[in-house]
Parts: sequence; structure tokens; C-alpha cells
Amino acid sequence: MSRIQIDAATKTFGAVTAVDAVTLDVRHGEFLVLLGPSGCGKSTLLRMIAGLTPLTSGRIRLAGQDVTHTPPRDRDLAMVFQSYALYPHLTVERNIGFPLRARGRSRAEIRTKVGEVAETLGLAELLGRRPRELSGGQRQRVALGRALVRDPGAFLMDEPLSNLDAKLRTATRAELTELHRELGSTFVYVTHDQVEAMTMATRIALLNGGRLEQVGTPEQVYDEPASVFVAGFLGSPPMNLLDATLVSRDGTLYLEAADVSLPLHYKGDLPTRDVVLGIRPEHLTHGDGLRGVVRNVENLGSEEIAHCLIGDARVCLRGPRPLSLQAGDAVTLSCRPEHIHLFDRTSGRRLVWHPVLEGAMS
Ligand SMILES: Nc1ncnc2c1ncn2[C@@H]1O[C@H](COP(=O)(O)OP(=O)(O)OP(=O)(O)O)[C@@H](O)[C@H]1O
Ligand SMILES: [Mg+2]
Repeated sequence: MSRIQIDAATKTFGAVTAVDAVTLDVRHGEFLVLLGPSGCGKSTLLRMIAGLTPLTSGRIRLAGQDVTHTPPRDRDLAMVFQSYALYPHLTVERNIGFPLRARGRSRAEIRTKVGEVAETLGLAELLGRRPRELSGGQRQRVALGRALVRDPGAFLMDEPLSNLDAKLRTATRAELTELHRELGSTFVYVTHDQVEAMTMATRIALLNGGRLEQVGTPEQVYDEPASVFVAGFLGSPPMNLLDATLVSRDGTLYLEAADVSLPLHYKGDLPTRDVVLGIRPEHLTHGDGLRGVVRNVENLGSEEIAHCLIGDARVCLRGPRPLSLQAGDAVTLSCRPEHIHLFDRTSGRRLVWHPVLEGAMS
């Protein structure tokens, strides 16, 4: 078992609170991704789990045992960093076997174990080479091998793919996902790259300024972002966010934004409220609604993104190529009611509402 329970973990550096009362339960066998912008506290939290950064307050338990004050070497964890820090003068074989030699294991055991790991990672042919004779991706796999050879309870990884070029990163991403499935071990993986998070994670924990914004499966955080921050972080381009006002007229709710009034298909009287209206670029369609002007169209190959200006707000529309739009075109955009996200303007938190579709309910 390698469940990791983080309980109100806090780390301050002088006046900076790098990690602010984060509570997170990483289940055995999960691939949990810590995601967020630069400086949000991802690496600090990972180093706290590893025991490399002492907590200011809070607790960490591994497999049910309190390890808050346990030194790193006594935690059953292996860490892979962005800089692989391979030993340049050692061969691939000796680099991978290093943690076992350091633990005084027998030569025979080391040879067998290194052989197995090299086989898994496709490094069997390269065991005699030194790091400088390897490509970036191969070096990355050696670093991974050095973690794997120990058979740890959990793997902690801090942006391990960020030194790779785009193509290699995509390939290694898929390899890591397969590896996780084969090993069934717990992975905690730090990245600021939402594509890595969306494609590899079983759950994503989104951090913002040291605080946890949302924890959920990739589908949950993408489809039901808990806050304006999450909505504006995920997606490429991210969710369109517009200031709007929610008003009731004659028992029907309307969203008033940028000189239009959109009926919300929701019956009821509510006090007028300032909200943020969120619509994903792929959910905007031509139709009666927001009036704007196309400023620029980007060709992504299979899709296009039209950047539009609605009032003074920038809004992106994404769809299969060709969108048949060009700079200067006037557009009117709308979306289906179930694709409208609403957030409270002051707190930034998601407002829960369900459209009542015509005819579906009285
Ligand atoms: N040793 C330290 N001393 C002082 N401040 C620190 C220290 N380590 C981190 N910080 C601060 O804590 C905050 C969180 O840093 P952290 O390295 O965890 O961010 P991160 O999310 O990993 O960012 P990045 O994506 O850039 O790696 C930052 O404001 C950083 O400047
Ligand atoms: Mg970092």
C-alpha cells in the first residue's frame, strides 16, 4: 500500500506562504498530477512529501504511518527531477544500479534488477553507454530507471519531461502512462503543462498561490471547473470568461452581457447578481447572441481558432477547419444552455445551476 495523506500541509519561507494548508488524499495506485502556474507551490509540496523540505505545520502520512519528521531515505519513495543528474562518468548500467549499490545489494541481484528495468524501458541495448552518448529522451529514461530499480512505494516526479522536445515529450508521456498501468504504483507528478495533466492523470490537483483550487478527474476539472481560475487555466485556448449580470424578469432568468440579453432557460426569481459567464471556445456556435468582430483566425491544421472581440472582451471560437471566417467579419455567437458556466464575480467560485430545457419539465 502506498497511500499518501497530506493533512493541512503548510510551508512558509519568510513572508511567502509557498504551500497553504493543503489537504489531499492520494490513493494507492493513483497517478495524481499537481498542476498550476509557475510559483504556485507544486515543487515545494512534492519536496514536502519526499521529506526534502520540512513542513511549517501539518502532517504527512505514508501507508498510514506519520512520516512528517522522517528523513527522506527512510521514506519508501523515489524522486525523478527535471534535471536528471545522471553520473556522467558512469555507464547506463551503473547509473541505473546506483541506488542498489548504495544499499549494499549483491552484484547478482543488481545485475538481474537492472536488466529487468532496462528491458521495461527499452534501454537494454544501451547499458554500456555513458550519458553523453544518449539522446535527451534516453537520458530521461535512465533517470526513470534509477527510480524504478528501487521498487519504491511511490514515485514523485517534478517536471521530468520538460527538457524533451515536443515529439519526444508526447511519446514519453504515453510510455509513462503505460508504465504506471503495468506497475500499479502510486505516482505524484508535478507539471505546469495542462496537456500532460489531462492525458496522464487519474486525478488532477490544481494549485493557485499555494492553495488547492480543485481536485478531480481530468473530466471533472475540465467539464465542471470549480472556479474562474480553473476555468481560465485549462483548455487551449482556455474558457472564455465575460462579466455578466444575472437578472430575473417575469419569472425567467436572463444573462446580460455585452449589450445582449440571453435567456437562461431557468425559471425562477433571484436577486440581481454579478457573475462571470464562461463558455468553452469549442462550444460557441453561430447564432443569435453575442455580437462581435473577428480579429484574427489561426489555422491549427485540423481546426481553426477565431479570436473575436465582443465589446472590449476577447473571445475565442474553436472548430473544425474551415470556420469560414476572416479578420473583419461580424459574428453573432451563442451556445447551448448546458454549456454555460456561471461563477460568482466576487468569490470566483462556480455557481451550480441546471438548465430546464423547454418541454423537459413544467
Ligand atoms: N527555498 C526557498 N526560499 C524562499 N522561497 C522559496 C523557496 N522555495 C520556493 N520558494 C517560493 O515559494 C513559492 C512556490 O515555489 P515552488 O518552487 O514550489 O513553485 P512551483 O509551482 O514549483 O513553480 P515552477 O512551476 O516555476 O517550478 C514561490 O513563490 C517561490 O519563490
Ligand atoms: Mg517547480
